[in-house]
Amino acid sequence: MHILVIGGAGYIGSHVVKALLLNGDKVTVFDDLSTGQQINLFPQAHFIKGSILDTDALGRAMCQNVDAVVLLAGKKAVGESMENPAKYAVNNLTGCINVLNTMLECDVKKIVFSSSAAVYGAPTYLPIDENHPLNPTSFYGFTKLEMERLLHWYDTLKGIKSVALRYFNAVGYDAEGDVKGLENNPQNLLPIIMEVAIEKRPMLCIFGNDYDTPDGTCIRDYIHVTDLADAHVKALKFLKETGQSDIFNLGTQNGISVLEMVQATEEVIGRKIKSVYESRRPGDPSKLTACAEKAQNILHWQPLHSSVENIIRTTWAVYQKK
Ligand code: UFG
Repeated sequence: MHILVIGGAGYIGSHVVKALLLNGDKVTVFDDLSTGQQINLFPQAHFIKGSILDTDALGRAMCQNVDAVVLLAGKKAVGESMENPAKYAVNNLTGCINVLNTMLECDVKKIVFSSSAAVYGAPTYLPIDENHPLNPTSFYGFTKLEMERLLHWYDTLKGIKSVALRYFNAVGYDAEGDVKGLENNPQNLLPIIMEVAIEKRPMLCIFGNDYDTPDGTCIRDYIHVTDLADAHVKALKFLKETGQSDIFNLGTQNGISVLEMVQATEEVIGRKIKSVYESRRPGDPSKLTACAEKAQNILHWQPLHSSVENIIRTTWAVYQKK
C-alpha cells in the first residue's frame, strides 16, 4: 500500500514510518518540521514539507495514488493546551478537518489516527477499556475526542473508514538506532529523566508523593514506541481486510510509578538521577492503566518491547550519544 504519514518526522511518526517500510509499504512523509525533525526522515520514504493547515499542499500530497493516511501531526503538550487552547483548536481540529476534506477530494478512504488515553479523563475504574466514560480533563484530550467524533461522522456520511489508536504513555526508541531525533524541551517523564542523566537539566521534579499509590507517586502505563508503531501496521491491515472502523487502546496494563521509573533508570544506566519532590501537577490522576485486550484479540497486537528495562535501555542508547 502507499501510505501518507502526516507527522512522519516526529517521535512516534518516525517509528511508524520505519515499521511501514519494514512491512514493504511505500511511504510518503508529510510534515512541517515544526516539532518533527529532518534527522528522523528515512531516505526510502518520499518527503513533502508541508503543514496540515495548508490545504493546497495537502491536496498535492494526497492526490498521488495514496491508499491510506496515518495522521499523527498535531500538538500534544497537555499543560500548553490549557494555556493556549487556540493553538490546539487550530492545529488539531482545523488540521484534522483539512485532512479529512482532502481525503474526500482525493478519494482516499482509510485513515489511522493517533488518539490518546487523554480522551478518558480521570478514571472511574482500572484498567481503562474502550467503553470507559469519555470525560477529558484537558483541552488537548478534548481535541483528540473531537477528532475521533469527526472520524465517526465522516465514516457515517462519506464512508471514510478509520482506526483510532488511543496511546497510553509513549516511551522508548527504536532498538536499531535508526531514529535519532530528540525532542526539544520534552515535557514527559522519561526524556526529562534522561536529560537529568546527561546533565542537561539539574534535577527531576517529582510532582507529588502523597498520592494513593504504594510509594505515593503517580502510576502510568508506559508503552514502547516500537509496539505503538507495530499497531499502526496492524491497524492498516485491519482496515484493508475488514473495511470497518474501530477504536483501540494501546498499553501494557502494567502500572509503573514515577519513583519506580527513576530507580529502574538508575539501575539500567548506572547513574544517579537527582530529584526533588514538588507539589502535585494539576490534573494528574493518581493511576492510569490500559486494558488493551481488544487490540490483542482483534488486531493480534502484543506489546513485545515494553519491558521497563527495554524502554530505558533503548532511550538511554540515544541520549547517551548527546
Ligand atoms: N512527572 C513528574 N515530573 C516531570 C514530568 C512528569 O513527576 O518532570 C510525572 C507526572 O506527574 C506523571 C508522570 O510523571 O505522574 C507521567 O507524566 P508525563 O507528563 O510523562 O505523562 P502524562 O501521564 O501526564 O501524559 C502522557 C501524555 C499524554 C497522554 C497520556 C496518556 O503526555 O498526551 O500520557 O496516558 F494523554
